Formats: sequence, C-alpha cells, structure tokens
Amino acid sequence: MSVPVMTVPGEAPPTTAAVRAVDLRKTYGKGETAVHALGGVDVGFERGRFTAIMGPSGSGKSTLMHCLAGLDTATAGQVWLGDTELTSLRDDQLTKLRRDRIGFVFQAFNLLPVLTAAENMTLPMQLAGRRPDRAWMDDVVARLGLRDRLGHRPYELSGGQQQRVAVARALLPRPDVVFADEPTGNLDSRAGAEVLGLLRSSVRETGQTVVMVTHDPVAAAYADRVVLLADGQLAGEVHHPTADAVIDALRGLGG
Ligand SMILES: Nc1ncnc2c1ncn2[C@@H]1O[C@H](COP(=O)(O)OP(=O)(O)OP(=O)(O)O)[C@@H](O)[C@H]1O
Ligand SMILES: [Mg+2]
Repeated sequence: MSVPVMTVPGEAPPTTAAVRAVDLRKTYGKGETAVHALGGVDVGFERGRFTAIMGPSGSGKSTLMHCLAGLDTATAGQVWLGDTELTSLRDDQLTKLRRDRIGFVFQAFNLLPVLTAAENMTLPMQLAGRRPDRAWMDDVVARLGLRDRLGHRPYELSGGQQQRVAVARALLPRPDVVFADEPTGNLDSRAGAEVLGLLRSSVRETGQTVVMVTHDPVAAAYADRVVLLADGQLAGEVHHPTADAVIDALRGLGG
C-alpha cells in the first residue's frame, strides 16, 4: 500500500529515500489520443536497498524509471533525488546531475564499439572531468570478473560480459542511484544470474542503491522489495520477495 505524503512545493518530503516520486504524473500526447502513462504515483526507494519494479507491459514501469532518473520530464508531480528536486531543475542542471549522481544499465548494454571494456567503463567519468578512484575501479573490476577482459572491445565479449561492463560503468562514479531497465532482458539465465548477483552485491557490500525494472520473477527475487505497477498506478509491494510470491502478486494484478 502506498502511504499518502503531504508536501509543500519546494520542500523535501521527510524521508531517507534515495529517490522518491510524489504524485508523479505523465501524459503522452493530447486530447482523445492522450495516454496517461503515470496517474499519480507516490513511491520512495530507500538508500542502500535493491528494489525491483514490476507490472504488466504498458503499466508505466519504464516511464516511471525514466522520470525518476531525469531522462524524461513528468507532466506533474515531483521527483526528489535526496534533497534535490529534479522536477524543478533546468536542462543543464539536470544533465550535470544525471552525469554526477545517477547510473544507468540498459537492456541493450549501450557500449561504444570502438572503445575497449576499460575505456567504456571510464568514459562517463572522463566526460565529467573526473578520475575514477584506482582502488575502487580495481575492486569493481575484480567483483565483475572482468580483469582479463579490460582490453577487449564489446564485439569480443559475450552478452553477459558486455552487460557486466555496463554495470561497472554505472557503479564507478558511485552514483546515488543505479537504475536498470530490464538489465537481463537480453541475457541467458546464467549470464543474467551473474549480472543480478553483481547488482545485489553492490547493494549488500557497498551500500549502493539500485532500482531495476524487470518482467522476470526470478530476477525480482534478487531484490529486497518489489513495487508493482498497474495502469500507471502503484498496485502493491512484496518485501523480501521470492519468485513464487512475485508470481502470486502479479497474478493478483490480472496482468
Ligand atoms: N513516447 C511515448 N509516446 C506515447 N506513448 C508512450 C510513449 N512512451 C510510452 N508510452 C505509453 O505509455 C504507457 C506506459 O509505457 P511504458 O513504456 O512506461 O510501459 P512499461 O511498463 O515499461 O512496458 P513494457 O513492460 O512493455 O516495457 C504505454 O501505454 C505506452 O504505450
Ligand atoms: Mg518498459
């Protein structure tokens, strides 16, 4: 159940959430063809936790994640990243915030083919004029099992290895939140399990906050909590999910 939150515009809601949506609405298009992708969503994602977002196709999962991550702008409502209201930022401020405080992992890996694995990992930090901490990079690379693949280009890597490079790229700047939209959607179950295990260990061992969209109840069971969406609304939650509990909850949505 979502808890209603009273907020005054410009004032951060009282919460320890790493990222939070307050009455978030997103409408695509206008008039008769308008699609209400998010119809007023109140949800917070606790710091140092792994949360999965699930729900039927078209329920608004990607829209919610893109608004939370500042990749898309909401029609109404607020998004807070810690004490920063994303929904009040100018484009240039949002670009900087995304670069400095948010990590992404996409279904399609999105690595640059001409760069090596190591170059792909460090590119966002280089663009931001930051230097990755050497010890931290060594630690991330070791945990991702990529040490002997650093000089390889993406086409020389398996899908699972490419996605692990993308996870490393997201973790290196130590962002406030890593968002992952179907990160295992293009992987077989073994490679998927490796990527999910890495996301979970980044949460358990380094306190990273991770928010992941997935269709897969087995993937969702790696999370600490599952948030369910249906028709652009919050439709329930599962804490300490098992795959079976998630399947039951999804069945309850009728989706
Ligand atoms: N750019 C857009 N223009 C118009 N409608 C859109 C756009 N993006 C998404 N929608 C619509 O908004 C609704 C929510 O889409 P969204 O992509 O968030 O769903 P989803 O839950 O991520 O679905 P899936 O599981 O299929 O990825 C859908 O009805 C979709 O058709
Ligand atoms: Mg989607």
